[in-house]
Amino acid sequence: MSIATEETLDNSVALESETINLLHKRVSVRKYTDEPVSSEVIDAVLSAAFRAPTSSNIQAYSVVIVRDQASKDELSVITGNQRHVARTPVFLAFCADLTGMEGALKRHGHNLDDNNMEIGLVSTIDASLAGMAAYLAADSLGLHGLMIGGVRNDTKAVARVLGLPPRVYCVFGMCLGWPAEAPTLKPRRSLEGMVHHEKYDAGKLNAELDAYDKALADHYRSIGKDTTDASWTDDIDDKFNVPRRDDLRAALKDLGFNFR
Ligand SMILES: Cc1cc2nc3c(=O)[nH]c(=O)nc-3n(C[C@H](O)[C@H](O)[C@H](O)COP(=O)(O)O)c2cc1C
Repeated sequence: MSIATEETLDNSVALESETINLLHKRVSVRKYTDEPVSSEVIDAVLSAAFRAPTSSNIQAYSVVIVRDQASKDELSVITGNQRHVARTPVFLAFCADLTGMEGALKRHGHNLDDNNMEIGLVSTIDASLAGMAAYLAADSLGLHGLMIGGVRNDTKAVARVLGLPPRVYCVFGMCLGWPAEAPTLKPRRSLEGMVHHEKYDAGKLNAELDAYDKALADHYRSIGKDTTDASWTDDIDDKFNVPRRDDLRAALKDLGFNFR
């Protein structure tokens, strides 16, 4: 549904494009064919993704490409026994990586010790933007996949598997392969509920949550998945009523992300 107002209607601009259509069709894919994913394909995806914008041009991220079965098996266990992690032809680990920045600082006798939260955040944002760009570039080639936040179940164990040096941590992973399933699109919360004009309108939240609970329950039932009438709010409460990954701050500290 449109959220355009009278003043913003503009009939002279096309409202569809290859990118917009790609995004509207995008869905997480957890089953892949046995067809290999060549290094050329991964290079094409990552070289496009690395054109993503980056805070102050710091480019504070790196990617570890994992094909080795033993490593994927280990990562599968760490991420909560996610089978697709073991079965994906290739796993890309998107890392926040401060080594380049610190290398530059060291040339001037400086370092990142005693830095603050901003530096942890910008490197994490940088890695995420590159990851999303890679995900879309892969999608555009018909190569589908799934982001894996389960790497933060045990950030230090993942760092060990990937051989990460200090000042590098894996923000999320990405399974990529040629799709062996075509999942139905999962509905999203509405534009009307999540977009505000000029000032934030907090008054519309409850009606919007009710509508989304129903839309998601309808979706899950249509694909034969058990759910409750309050599908989304129940699910979020189940997952987040106690803090998750409580040891993350300590793990990041040990990995060189010890920022105020
Ligand atoms: C940062 C991030 C981490 C995610 N981690 C996992 C994961 O560990 N396992 C998984 O099965 N899906 C994971 N997902 C996929 C989400 O569950 C999925 O995007 C969401 O349910 C919406 O479904 P859709 O992508 O099919 O629209 C992750 C997505 C993101 C963005």
